[in-house]
Amino acid sequence: MRIGILGTGNMAEALGGPWSRAGHEILVGGRAPERARALAERIGARAGTLHEAARFGDAALLALPYDAVSGVLAEVGELRGRVLIDCTNAIGPGLVLTTGEGPGAARRIAAATGARVVKAFNHVTPAVWSRTPPVFADGPLTVPLCGDDEEALALVATLAKDMGCAPLVVGPLARADLLEAATAFLIGLWHSGHDPRLMLPPPAALGG
Ligand SMILES: NC(=O)c1ccc[n+]([C@@H]2O[C@H](COP(=O)([O-])OP(=O)(O)OC[C@H]3O[C@@H](n4cnc5c(N)ncnc54)[C@H](OP(=O)(O)O)[C@@H]3O)[C@@H](O)[C@H]2O)c1
Repeated sequence: MRIGILGTGNMAEALGGPWSRAGHEILVGGRAPERARALAERIGARAGTLHEAARFGDAALLALPYDAVSGVLAEVGELRGRVLIDCTNAIGPGLVLTTGEGPGAARRIAAATGARVVKAFNHVTPAVWSRTPPVFADGPLTVPLCGDDEEALALVATLAKDMGCAPLVVGPLARADLLEAATAFLIGLWHSGHDPRLMLPPPAALGG
């Protein structure tokens, strides 16, 4: 596939690197051309502008801070129907969602652009995505995906598989609100040194 990446930071590298190694053609776009060139060189990709990345190939990854997204999207122009992968976490001080009441980040991006948005890759850190592969004692890392468009979900599932993960479609884009909130909750536990897995009994123990 051909994937554009908006942003040249940690998530851009942690996802773009494995996708490039898996044989996908990547174009990295950043506001600073030298950072786009440096990242492209590190991961074996092409460098370009944010505008070029937004339009490149089959899908574009938004690897930007959530509070920068609306400004960047307004600048790159029409994206109706494009597959946009949203890995953002709209989390502010105190680990609260900066989207507040109403729709979460992914739904706001979809409403603003008319793009086919898939929420994915937001729930863990670049250190996990850049493992080769992200496989642990229980097997490949599960990647929850939320979206309303089957073709877009299948495309993102392929990207997750190609980096050694196990994609799991958990529901429509409306479910991304819960995934975004759950991620803020998990980050709070991880930051305070707790292991969220210890809260989860085996499913069979839950009873009827
Ligand atoms: N880091 C994590 O643990 C993690 C995990 C999952 C999801 N996420 C989410 O992934 C997204 C990217 O995170 P990251 O860790 O990759 O951040 P990062 O390393 O700080 O990179 C952010 C990128 O966004 C660019 N950017 C910032 N403001 C911009 C603006 N106004 N216009 C254009 N470009 C702008 C930066 O460009 P410059 O270099 O020019 O500043 C940089 O290329 C965020 O939404 C974050 O919440 C992060």
